[in-house]
Amino acid sequence: MRRYLRIVVLCLACGFCSLLYAFSQLAVSLEEGAGGGGWKPQAAAASWLAGGGRGAGKGAGGAGPAARPGRLDRYSLKIEPLEKMHLAVVACGERLEETLTMLKSAIIFSVKPLQFHIFAEDQLHDSFKARLDSWSFLQTFNYTLYPITFPSENAAEWKKLFKPCASQRLFLPLILKEVDSLLYVDTDILFLRAVDDIWSLLKKFNSTQIAAMAPEHEEPRIGWYNRFARHPYYGNTGVNSGVMLMNMTRMRRKYFKNDMTTVQLKWGDILMPLLKKYKLNITWGDQDLLNIMFFHNPESLFVFPCQWNYRPDHCIYGSNCQEAEEEGIFILHGNRGVYHDDKQPAFRAVYEALRNCSFEDNNIRSLLKPLELELQKTVHTYCGKIYKIFIKQLTKSIRDRYDRPRKER
Ligand SMILES: *[C@@H]1O[C@H](CO)[C@@H](O)[C@H](O)[C@H]1NC(C)=O
Ligand SMILES: *[C@@H]1O[C@H](CO)[C@@H](O)[C@H](O)[C@H]1NC(C)=O
Ligand SMILES: *[C@@H]1O[C@H](CO)[C@@H](O)[C@H](O)[C@H]1NC(C)=O
Ligand SMILES: *[C@@H]1O[C@H](CO)[C@@H](O)[C@H](O)[C@H]1NC(C)=O
Ligand SMILES: *[C@@H]1O[C@H](CO)[C@@H](O)[C@H](O)[C@H]1NC(C)=O
Repeated sequence: MRRYLRIVVLCLACGFCSLLYAFSQLAVSLEEGAGGGGWKPQAAAASWLAGGGRGAGKGAGGAGPAARPGRLDRYSLKIEPLEKMHLAVVACGERLEETLTMLKSAIIFSVKPLQFHIFAEDQLHDSFKARLDSWSFLQTFNYTLYPITFPSENAAEWKKLFKPCASQRLFLPLILKEVDSLLYVDTDILFLRAVDDIWSLLKKFNSTQIAAMAPEHEEPRIGWYNRFARHPYYGNTGVNSGVMLMNMTRMRRKYFKNDMTTVQLKWGDILMPLLKKYKLNITWGDQDLLNIMFFHNPESLFVFPCQWNYRPDHCIYGSNCQEAEEEGIFILHGNRGVYHDDKQPAFRAVYEALRNCSFEDNNIRSLLKPLELELQKTVHTYCGKIYKIFIKQLTKSIRDRYDRPRKER
């Protein structure tokens, strides 16, 4: 009798233990489900940090890069909790698809989490939200949509300056007050290299530098500012503001020298007087104002090489961006609509390849071959003649990120 009783007690104890185990497993799986399911920023951050990618894919019906967790694991150990890269873009008119392709290219190659700040006309908000939410399973980015906003007293004047909405970027330091640093890009930018790499230039700023841009031209003979501008501009050929890296903390603090008053003015106070003075003389809107500003404050600008902002001007009459010839193009800038017409088929081919590709590893790896074939069809153009520089860095980026186990940078 005693023996039976002992066996019964033993069985009960075992049963109790397995029940406890079962419950703890259930709790764990419920937590994971929450992390991967809905688009919850905190949950996303947590699972990124926990290296997880564990929850990733679950909520997205397996559409995601389910094969990636291992890689994320290795990385996450190195990621500091709040280190995020802030990327801003201003989208108006017909720029939805182009902007989404730019954002996709940022996501594909980047390592650290991204925070997108998207300023868009109201009628575009729903479409942005739908697409970006459908990518949320990636858990490597987060976004905020903003309406186009201007200082109220001169809203009308700002809006008609240059293309609609383009001058929005001048106000980013004042609107995104909580953000320390920001990469602003035009909608017609494509990242062929991790955002992390341009972001790391912020750390190279010396004590007086507050922003970084590339020259508008490498070749003064075809330069615009040096031949036509009726206002001051930075350096020999001016700077292009399509890719602009900013330490906004410094921009907000700085007092700028100017040619309007003898006192130095803060960013928020200088814009409108500047516009009033130069309104009739500027052609490229806000970029001209930035050129005037850095003409008077040249010690504040960090100039990065042309391969970080590669435009048709760099190859249209023959190649003149030496850094890109050597190392390939890092950031492609298809200005003047070249992604959408037939003027520069090499630019268009890169755009279409990225626009068409999805986030699956295989899909990204296999975009190179057809792209190279497309580019080979463009060798009748000056830009097509040097098509190899369009895929040199891109090939490397894809290899680094998708082919072998990711190494530490
Ligand atoms: C995502 O963005 C929201 C603001 O829209 C912010 O409150 C939240 O902390 C962000 N989360 C992550 C993971 O970046
Ligand atoms: C931007 O500048 C501020 C003030 O100098 C500095 O504290 C901050 O670390 C800088 N940000 C980055 C990303 O370098
Ligand atoms: C605008 O351009 C005109 C003609 O080149 C020039 O005379 C004038 O000084 C310019 N205005 C400013 C504010 O630079
Ligand atoms: C920072 O670099 C800029 C551009 O090279 C230069 O003009 C400026 O004097 C430098 N500032 C300091 C404090 O060295
Ligand atoms: C991209 O997709 C479009 C239509 O979906 C197709 O017509 C085009 O050939 C594709 N381009 C490339 C480069 O894959």
